[in-house]
Amino acid sequence: MNRRRRIYEGKAKVLYEGPEPGTLIQHFKDDATAFNAKKHAVIDGKGVLNNRISEFIFQALNEIGVPTHFIKRLNMREQLIRSVEIIPLEVVVRNVAAGSIATRLGLEEGTPLPRSIIEFYYKNDELNDPMVSEEHISAFGWASPQELDEMMMLAMRINDFLTGMFLAAGIKLVDFKIEMGRLWDNDMSRVILADEISPDSCRLWDAKSKDKLDKDRFRRDMGGLIEAYTEVARRLGIVTENE
Ligand code: C5P
Repeated sequence: MNRRRRIYEGKAKVLYEGPEPGTLIQHFKDDATAFNAKKHAVIDGKGVLNNRISEFIFQALNEIGVPTHFIKRLNMREQLIRSVEIIPLEVVVRNVAAGSIATRLGLEEGTPLPRSIIEFYYKNDELNDPMVSEEHISAFGWASPQELDEMMMLAMRINDFLTGMFLAAGIKLVDFKIEMGRLWDNDMSRVILADEISPDSCRLWDAKSKDKLDKDRFRRDMGGLIEAYTEVARRLGIVTENE
């Protein structure tokens, strides 16, 4: 049925060869994983919601001049993207203590951080994506010092923009994870935003009730994940019915 060449299959997405050189098709699956895939489930409709939410966010970022890999959405589960050389780092930006920083530093979940904090994790499933410092990144050559500067500037700009966008929708952006890639032009490259931004990769809390509207509902066996993701889409003004 599907004769396209599969380039890469991850936990929640598949990348296929694109129609033009330099493009790929990013397909959102319904699979949900946590704790480095030790926990796994298939949640009907999650891929469709993440495709729409990530499209909305990447389009808004493109419009304000943040370079991203997103070209256009193709259908309910797929988008056309630019092919980039993925930098093997997960960049996490945190505004409020939750998840691993709360555990690691003994902070109460929900405590506002003194300022937004950027963390880097080395993308390596066998090692459970260990946290690394700028020293490790430059010593092992995962990104050049100039790329690291670009990554931090992009991460902060994205945080500022998304914090405002979600707040206008009554949602607190607690933290999020992004991935970046190099886009080559002859022998020059620049850093652009890749992967996805969705309730799978962000912590999103209702601004008033602090209800969780993100993947923690799956990680913590709270249920109601599709309802929460649908609520995020609805508040952002994304129409998901009747497709
Ligand atoms: O688990 P932790 O608190 O470090 O996660 C920080 C943020 O990064 C959360 O929003 C989480 O959803 C996201 N994250 C992710 N993929 C990972 C690790 C974390 O999307 N592999």
